[in-house]
Amino acid sequence: MKTIFKMMLGICTLVASLQVAAAADIAIKINKRYLNLPVAQTQTRGNMKFVINGKQERTFKIRLAKGEAEYWVYCDVTALRGKTITISYDGDEAGLKKIYQNDEIEGQKTMYKELNRPQFHFTAKRGWINDPNGLIFYEGEYHLFFQHNPYEKEWENMSWGHAVSKDMIHWEELPTALSPDNLGTMYSGSTVIDYDNTAGFNKGKNLAMVATYTVASDDKQVQCVAYSLDKGRTWTKYDGNPIIDSKEKWNSVDTRDPRVFWYKPGKHWVMILNERDGHSIYNSSNLKEWSFQTHTTGFWECPDLFELFVDGDSSKTKWVMLGASNTYMTGNFDGRKFTPESGKHYFVTGSIYAAQTFTNIPEADGRRIQIGWGKIGHAGMPFNGMMLLPTELTLKTTRDGIRLFSEPIKESNQLFESVGEWKNLTAKDANEKLKKYNTNDGIRVKTKLKLSHATSAGLNLFGQRMLDYDMNYNLINGVFYAPEDMTSMEISADIYVDRTSIEVFIDSGAYSYSMERKSDSKNMEGLHFWGNNIEVKELQVYSVKSIW
Ligand code: FRU
Repeated sequence: MKTIFKMMLGICTLVASLQVAAAADIAIKINKRYLNLPVAQTQTRGNMKFVINGKQERTFKIRLAKGEAEYWVYCDVTALRGKTITISYDGDEAGLKKIYQNDEIEGQKTMYKELNRPQFHFTAKRGWINDPNGLIFYEGEYHLFFQHNPYEKEWENMSWGHAVSKDMIHWEELPTALSPDNLGTMYSGSTVIDYDNTAGFNKGKNLAMVATYTVASDDKQVQCVAYSLDKGRTWTKYDGNPIIDSKEKWNSVDTRDPRVFWYKPGKHWVMILNERDGHSIYNSSNLKEWSFQTHTTGFWECPDLFELFVDGDSSKTKWVMLGASNTYMTGNFDGRKFTPESGKHYFVTGSIYAAQTFTNIPEADGRRIQIGWGKIGHAGMPFNGMMLLPTELTLKTTRDGIRLFSEPIKESNQLFESVGEWKNLTAKDANEKLKKYNTNDGIRVKTKLKLSHATSAGLNLFGQRMLDYDMNYNLINGVFYAPEDMTSMEISADIYVDRTSIEVFIDSGAYSYSMERKSDSKNMEGLHFWGNNIEVKELQVYSVKSIW
């Protein structure tokens, strides 16, 4: 009797405590497009859970604001219309009652018009972005997937965000493509179109876009696949995931960022995967079963591997292998093994990281186009990071050997309108001409300088050294650079200035770099050439259109 009583009491206490825990939950019947959630960076992260009919729909970490929101994030809940979501949160739950649904994102009216929103670079509406993922052209659309934390402007909850474009310049952000699952969070990867249905995912005329990506958990990183039959809008994860689990082989958790492409001569798929101390090559006939082939040490994260014509000559090609820093080796590749012939070299430095090139660009176009993550912040904004300008990569023979060059794709020209053009000016005259173009907004300045002494010269913007060429040490903004003709005393720079970033292309893309724009607001000098008696041989100024 006593034990039954005790059991009853126990059950009652349990039910009561469950009710207490549940009392803080909120339930919302979805009849709008978005759920808006308040965030404050000062709050510690808690786990939020959406439950529908007793089943977990998603879980993520968020710093729910208990007082005034610092900024708002959102969930697109269009697919959940008519359903009731129970939302629970194990952090400070005071903010729960401020979550609300609406057909507009909180802040929609000022979207893309915010003070520090880049005007000609892709940024996410809300949250943190890092690596570009799954860059692919398919049926008239360029796809940009990207590492995204939709719920905060710092790294967490890794998901694949998604945007599409007709020209790689104007982007439309779409709902999240891949969200964390019970294997872990969605790390970087790539996409292909399975024209021959090798994986068996195609349905009739609908070809599968197949994504290969890393899923990260606390103790390992495994490779997985998912496919989309509607041009990347919705995704089905393969039920045989993971397809590669190589932690034990490498005795390391660092096995990630699969980059897959079709190797035409051998008629098979190739995956290049970063494993611990370098890039591995795997082969597959069906995108599901992969066999390890070879390994090239000396690279970290985000591999890429592709073939390029040398000097535009289709009878002369080289393969290029890159890591996350964009340092590279050139060499040969037979489908199984990369044999380096030179390297490592750099062609771009600064805020760029984890760049990737597009897959499936039509042969008639034939360009190798790269987009890199710009590690750039935007003061006071509810988003972080950006994508740098897409650039075309080419191999050219230089005095030092075959080297990579990169220049903004021709599609970017639509953004710029020439507003001033001069030749052979003194620095003083050039500075006078530039006065009326001083701006906190975007501008492009193209110039060629001739130095009179082998010392330093350059161009500032409100005190920030956009170009600082030191010919004594052969440094540009601190990085070694020697022009093709070292005795010319000349240097050219094409400088793209957005509200928060600066990208500079030296000598037609022989070297380029990017940085956060950090103009000193008290420095009224504006655009300003400096150096010992330099000549501004060429100067062009362009106004910039917004892509939004
Ligand atoms: C590079 C990286 C990748 C990884 C991703 C996680 O920036 O560390 O190696 O897949 O970011 O967000």
